[in-house]
Amino acid sequence: MNDIVLIAGTRPEIIKMAPIVKAFQNNSIPFVFVHCGQHYDYNMSQQFIEELGLPEPDYGFKIKVYSPCVQTSRIIMILGRLMEKVKPRLVLVEGDTNGVLASALAAVKLDVPVGHVEAGLRSFDLRMPEEHNRRLVDHASTYLFAPTDRARKNLERESVWGKIYVTGNTVIDAVMQHLPIAEKKSTILEKIRFKEFALVTAHRTENVDDPVVLRNLVESFVEAPVPIVYPLHPRTRKRLRQHKLWRNFVSAENVQILPPLGYFDFLLLMKGCRMIITDSGGLQEEATAPNLRKPVLVTRLSTERPEAVENGFAKVVGVDKHGILDAIERTLEGKFDFPQFSPYGDGNAGSKIVGIVLEELNAGNIESANSLQ
Ligand code: UD1
Ligand code: UDP
Repeated sequence: MNDIVLIAGTRPEIIKMAPIVKAFQNNSIPFVFVHCGQHYDYNMSQQFIEELGLPEPDYGFKIKVYSPCVQTSRIIMILGRLMEKVKPRLVLVEGDTNGVLASALAAVKLDVPVGHVEAGLRSFDLRMPEEHNRRLVDHASTYLFAPTDRARKNLERESVWGKIYVTGNTVIDAVMQHLPIAEKKSTILEKIRFKEFALVTAHRTENVDDPVVLRNLVESFVEAPVPIVYPLHPRTRKRLRQHKLWRNFVSAENVQILPPLGYFDFLLLMKGCRMIITDSGGLQEEATAPNLRKPVLVTRLSTERPEAVENGFAKVVGVDKHGILDAIERTLEGKFDFPQFSPYGDGNAGSKIVGIVLEELNAGNIESANSLQ
């Protein structure tokens, strides 16, 4: 019997695939775990495999290239070769990175059914590479695991071919499983210079690759009315240096820059902060977890996570300095009575997804999946 292949390639994919890996293990279902190598630094990749107690990947790669075309095509090539050898009965991918698109395309070319975890998100902002990736992968998938009802509706509106299931987002499982461990293990708060702080991340290409937006963000953080703690993504580090913003930023009294952190440290910073300011997708979801419940300012023009906004957790504040500073002020003054429940599920998305896969396997549907379409 051929195996199910689970593919992850970047930091958020490893975190969001972890609950699925654990559910496969709990059900004694064999699987092949592949790291396609889009992220390759220890602190963007292997540290999450270790911390989250995942098995070492059966196959691991490192794709150290900058060009998105070369990156995507190299991953298609290596995963194509791998799939020819392993002959998977199903490939599971998560999210909207170039590695996810490449993995799905390799599978489609070899007639292997694809299951897309976190299907149906839409920002309707075609400047974002992620929006292209998620649309293309959704239309190439046989199984679509939509986190919310809204994501399901997006998929139905586009008449995707595959079967749609609403499962919640596995990142809520990840927060609920790991925050209690983080509270015991992490000592990060001892290393933070400030008692009260906003936790910041920024790495999206439409923000940090645009020198005007990057400068706006830097100036907003330096002038913010609350100290800033900022674990810096390698893309942003590179762009700050390239645009000569690095020196002033690191020497700002109001800002503490850290390297990319492990999940336990990062969870504790989310738990301990006054607010989160970010362009990350995952953070918008994590902030709604019942054991975190934090306000989030989304430094972007759009979000594919509108459920976080509708439930009062998140505000899309744009990338203009005055807008960001104003939103920080208002958040500091605000009192929040957030819902007890996350719009992204109850923390059981991983086992729901594996339950569906198991049912489809037992019914013999996966083998014939592509011919059913
Ligand atoms: C990618 C995803 C983005 C996701 C993010 C998660 C795409 C189009 N973007 O963006 O959706 O939010 O991952 O963090 O797939 N780098 C390193 N070490 C690493 C990884 C990256 O130094 O381990 C640097 C390199 O200079 C690299 C740059 O970061 O060229 C960008 O990396 P890449 O994986 O292409 O995109 P991300 O910005 O990480
Ligand atoms: N994260 C982390 N350490 C960090 C920054 C983020 O563990 O220094 C986690 C965060 O909790 C979330 C995921 O990484 O689960 C988000 O990754 P990222 O922001 O890189 O990607 P996105 O969600 O935007 O695709």
